[in-house]
Amino acid sequence: NRRVTIRDLAAAKRRGERWPMLTAYDALTARVFDEAGIPVLLVGDSAANVVYGYDTTVPVTVDELVPLTAAVARSTKRSLVVADLPFGSYQASPEQALATASRFMKEGGAQAVKLEGGHAVARQVELLVSAGIPVMAHLGLTPQSVNTLGGYRVQGRGEAAADLLKDAKELERAGAFSVVLECVPSDLAAQVTGQLDIPTIGIGAGGATDAQVLVWQDMAGLSPRVAKFVKTYADLHETLREAASTYADEVVSGAFPDAEHSYAS
Ligand code: KIV
Ligand code: NA
Repeated sequence: NRRVTIRDLAAAKRRGERWPMLTAYDALTARVFDEAGIPVLLVGDSAANVVYGYDTTVPVTVDELVPLTAAVARSTKRSLVVADLPFGSYQASPEQALATASRFMKEGGAQAVKLEGGHAVARQVELLVSAGIPVMAHLGLTPQSVNTLGGYRVQGRGEAAADLLKDAKELERAGAFSVVLECVPSDLAAQVTGQLDIPTIGIGAGGATDAQVLVWQDMAGLSPRVAKFVKTYADLHETLREAASTYADEVVSGAFPDAEHSYAS
């Protein structure tokens, strides 16, 4: 009854076992996913969108993400908790990355961090790993770079495929324990998965990766719009809307609270 470790994930790849990852941002849902046996929970900078209401992940700050990470870490027992380093908190230098990652480990209670990019962040990965911080990499559609990518679109088509594979190998050499592949063609993700010893985690990357990840609100049908690669496993939007409007009706009509939900003297 201990937490999943990066060694467990490496062993799963050697055995050819696939595993699921979900995002989490608060105590109650993190606890549900921990109980469901989700081995890895990511406190994604997608909190920018689903928690804080920003249009992109660019504005969210370390100060906004650290408390969410702490809530997830405090309320889980088994899941490995990975914290996303937000835009602008690690690109400047390996030293900046170490200072930021240390906050997520010490104040946030995370067991690993994630950052976006290939060659440009390889030195960051090296320093973090040498300092004792496991690093999950992230290639393909890297939302923090939406302004240079020119939108949210499939990455790694055509000539860009070879560059992505090269970046993945460099990140593995730098010491990353896994790599997220977001919105890339399935055959490229399969090729990367076959050529790396570390697990690949797909999102919009087809079925050949070692693991899969989804934003939980997308997976559970709470998000208003979802990408083509999302499958929704529940309709929480409808369930919550129904609950809220029934509650509202009962307050207005006086049906709630009744004797059962009130105290006698
Ligand atoms: O922030 C996030 O939710 C992510 C995953 C979708 C990989 O980076
Ligand atoms: Na992210």
